Amino acid sequence: MNDNKKVVLSLVQPSGELTIGNYLGAIKNFKKFQDQYKCYFAVADMHSITVPQVPKDLRRRTKEVLALFLASGLDPEKSTLFIQSQVEEHVQLAWVLDSISYMGQLSRMTQFKQKSQKSEENLNAALFTYPVLMAADILLYQTDLVPVGEDQTQHMELARDLAIRFNHKYSDTFKIPEAFIDKEMGKIYSLKNPEIKMSKSDPDKNSYILLIDDENTIKKKIRGAVTDDCRNFAYSDEQKGLKNLINIYHSFTKKPIDDIVREYSGENYSTFKDDLGIVICENLLPIQKKYNEILSDKNYLEKIYNEGRQKAKYEARKTLSKVYRKVGFLK
Ligand code: TRP
Repeated sequence: MNDNKKVVLSLVQPSGELTIGNYLGAIKNFKKFQDQYKCYFAVADMHSITVPQVPKDLRRRTKEVLALFLASGLDPEKSTLFIQSQVEEHVQLAWVLDSISYMGQLSRMTQFKQKSQKSEENLNAALFTYPVLMAADILLYQTDLVPVGEDQTQHMELARDLAIRFNHKYSDTFKIPEAFIDKEMGKIYSLKNPEIKMSKSDPDKNSYILLIDDENTIKKKIRGAVTDDCRNFAYSDEQKGLKNLINIYHSFTKKPIDDIVREYSGENYSTFKDDLGIVICENLLPIQKKYNEILSDKNYLEKIYNEGRQKAKYEARKTLSKVYRKVGFLK
């Protein structure tokens, strides 16, 4: 691996069943980095336990995210693919970073505020220090760029602050990372309520398309997606439902939004929806096939994450040793 390459890193939580939102909103976009950058992509299973999880589901979904990385074209020869909990350095660094994190700043994180309101009963300390672990994920690998959704901007600021603070307090140690906010990332909304993100935790099954939904289900769900009664095919914030569908079309085909709008202007929404159903299936079915093949080959998956772990550990160790020395831990 060429060490002059810039480093790109991102993690995906295995918190819910995978939807096309996870794929289009995040994982599909990782591939474009892998030829030019030194890439790390990992499954953030440790972040997931900040909310209640069923252990065997967590294990299964961790493998599923990894399988989706592979099915989406991430190449383990080019990118380091690993599982967060298998590289102990992440929590080891997180503890040190905890010692320079301010309670005030952590309590202002909007995601913490939202999540803590939702789960009063499980208001655990990990939910509070979650962004510090995320900073550790990033800083361990001397990361330059972090592709994330817009909802992670505040966490990215914290990661930068901690890097700067540590470098200042001890001496230059961490690269200051930058968020790479792709406008397309994290932008796939519920089919039933385009104000909220598409998510498997939505009680309405028709509001999301699962990665593993079959052809008929996909087409049916798209036909049932909420639009509006403007009878005007346009890409606009006044027509959020339609806008979301156009975004999905665009994400799968890469066809420019303007071209899509031109092509369908004057058409019924239902014509567009039928075509969109076809487009999704055409693009998703081959990925589903690969995904299922990979998942059914336990040994292959295991080999991938064991190798990923070794590669990740090697890099993580380098940074962590420096950090331990600088803060005054014995060798
Ligand atoms: N918090 C991120 C999310 O929920 C996941 C994540 C954990 C992450 N560690 C990371 C993303 C490091 C980028 C870099 O989406």
